[in-house]
Amino acid sequence: MIYIGSDHGGFRLKGVLIEHLKSRDIEYTDCGTFSEKSVDYPDIAKDVCQKVVESGAAGILVCGTGVGMSIAANKVKGIRAVVASDTLSVKMSRRHNDANVLCLGQRVLGNDLAVLLLDEFIDGEFEGERHRRRVELIHGMEDDDTEGARA
Ligand code: RB5
Repeated sequence: MIYIGSDHGGFRLKGVLIEHLKSRDIEYTDCGTFSEKSVDYPDIAKDVCQKVVESGAAGILVCGTGVGMSIAANKVKGIRAVVASDTLSVKMSRRHNDANVLCLGQRVLGNDLAVLLLDEFIDGEFEGERHRRRVELIHGMEDDDTEGARA
């Protein structure tokens, strides 16, 4: 299962990505938005990310640049969101960072590149080992709200 969502700025690319998921027979849930009417991307990011955390499935978020979605997504405990426009970053985000949400920008990417990035994300696998410790260190920061820890 893949949870996918966009704001109005990513609505058209979301449609392209959904067609690709269908062509690969990958089950997905479209969490909206469902038109180009203006909406607030943090609301969509929160909805998709909560479903990702609850289910352990992956998420795809699309906005104009992918940036707003990634900033919002990474505020949700348990989320490791990557925004990328090159295949190496997406590949390594799966192998080393165990990224569970991919954020893409409709204004940044052509459709073909976006689909390539989606495939890289779906097919990538976490390598574990030393990377698992580092991912755990990242999530340890979620419970650490002291000033010192942020310094
Ligand atoms: C919406 O206008 C735009 O700000 C949004 O799609 C996204 O690019 C934010 O990062």
